Amino acid sequence: MGRYFSLSAASLLLASGSAGAQSVASTQSALEPAGAEAQQVAMLFWVMLSGGAVLWLGVVGLLLHAALVNRRRLAEKSASRVILWGGVVFPSVTLCALLAYALWLMPGLRPFAQASPAALRIEVTGKQFWWDVVYHPAQGPPVASANEIRLPVGERVELTLKSADVIHSFWIPPLGGKMDMIPGRSNRLSIMATKPGIFRGPCAEYCGTSHALMAFSAVAMAPEAFRSWLAVQAIPAEGAGASGGALFLRHGCGSCHSVAGTDARGLIGPDLSHVGSRATVAAGILPNTEDAVARFIARPDLIKPGSSMPAFDMLPPDDIRAIAAWLRGLR
Ligand code: CUA
Repeated sequence: MGRYFSLSAASLLLASGSAGAQSVASTQSALEPAGAEAQQVAMLFWVMLSGGAVLWLGVVGLLLHAALVNRRRLAEKSASRVILWGGVVFPSVTLCALLAYALWLMPGLRPFAQASPAALRIEVTGKQFWWDVVYHPAQGPPVASANEIRLPVGERVELTLKSADVIHSFWIPPLGGKMDMIPGRSNRLSIMATKPGIFRGPCAEYCGTSHALMAFSAVAMAPEAFRSWLAVQAIPAEGAGASGGALFLRHGCGSCHSVAGTDARGLIGPDLSHVGSRATVAAGILPNTEDAVARFIARPDLIKPGSSMPAFDMLPPDDIRAIAAWLRGLR
């Protein structure tokens, strides 16, 4: 437990420091599992790979043997035997065994069906080109967030996956398998992180111009740290420098974005109530620095083509700076 604490503290430092932010959420390998489901997916991969390698070596070995070592013709009877045992029985048995193993793993990937309901449900809605996130803890009110998913290590979390526009696909490779987000449907996925860390979750289904620029960070934290973080998220944050907040409202940002505790209650764009505490901005694309936030406000179209957010480069640069600084202070 103590190890979880120190590791997740280090991750959080990484997440909030601007220098470390560049390297944040770079872990996106399904072969370095940090979750119970991903462990099974990785194991299946290695078993299939080893099985395939053994078969390949066997076939190539027989071929070389027949071509180089023993070039004599086989009698018809022994040739039939080779075809029956080597060409029918052996591949059928091997492939059936691999299939049975893969099917045996499958129920484990959807454990919420037999397990008691998860203590934490996270609702994630894919939008072009970002992620709307709402935490539904067993106790307490729902907590709105965006483009970042935090979860407690060692606890099962149920994800409700939806889409507001086109088909997206939710995937945190080190934590579990992927699942499509389909308009009009509500899909469920259950994951359990087994190691703390910051991982990158990409959108895994082509969804338009900026599909490749649609990602999020998944932060697996020690359960105690997660609960205190969620408690902080549930109360409004104080932005840095009141002028930035006033400019944010005056320039109309609040008609698309929500910031808890202010008059900004827009629902079109990502919730910004605690945007300063997130590892990245612009849905996993930019490190969360004042510079990057200011750049995105001025010309979002240059960073994320096809994004619904209009450019605000007609504003005085000092206003953009002040808004960016205020947002960075919303922790
Ligand atoms: Cu969303 Cu691809």
